[in-house]
Amino acid sequence: MTQDELKKAVAKAAIDHIAPSLERETVIGVGTGSTANFFIDMLAELKNEFDGAVASSEATAERLKSHGIPVYDLNSTSELEFYVDGADETNERLELIKGGGAALTREKIVAAVAKTFICIADDSKMVGILGGFPLPVEVIPMARSHVGREIVKLGGDPVYREGVVTDNGNIIIDVHNMDISQPIRIEEQLNNIVGVVTNGLFARRRADLLLLGTKDGVKSIS
Ligand code: A5P
Repeated sequence: MTQDELKKAVAKAAIDHIAPSLERETVIGVGTGSTANFFIDMLAELKNEFDGAVASSEATAERLKSHGIPVYDLNSTSELEFYVDGADETNERLELIKGGGAALTREKIVAAVAKTFICIADDSKMVGILGGFPLPVEVIPMARSHVGREIVKLGGDPVYREGVVTDNGNIIIDVHNMDISQPIRIEEQLNNIVGVVTNGLFARRRADLLLLGTKDGVKSIS
């Protein structure tokens, strides 16, 4: 199976998982990236069975709207039943690295609100220890050099992601070679640096369910 076929298989598994729970008033949180895009395209077929969606990025909002799915502001939504999104890396504990598409802050906010966070990923994303994928950190632009120096003190190699501005008007620093054997600790240490908006470690708020695409089928891990 190709990687795209694995991504489609996990998107379909997410649809099958949520479909029985959909009601007229259900609002779904929707993530960002190529795997989430397959999910959005399949979700469109169910659009008359739920209320609408909250998007984790402008790109996702556009894609949802192009299918005629209503997109709501998170502040006008009291409950999100599900959040469905991809990941750049996951470990067996369902702690994730996200933000390869620079949408990490809004993704983390929507994940925080959702009752159930379903991560959809092909098995190339499963690792023993997080950190092979450079860890994205969203930073207020004027704090770029300061944050970079503090990341070096924590043992990481910061690399400014040239030419990228997030949906929130900030920049991304990708952290290479960081020891992430204790994800919750690193998540907190990075968040404590003044000028950091958020970082792409989803350890405090892990996924609740991982649908992992493998050549032998989709595995459910929770
Ligand atoms: C977006 O910022 C990311 O967190 C994505 O969820 C992540 O990069 C996964 O993307 P793909 O599904 O394209 O691999």
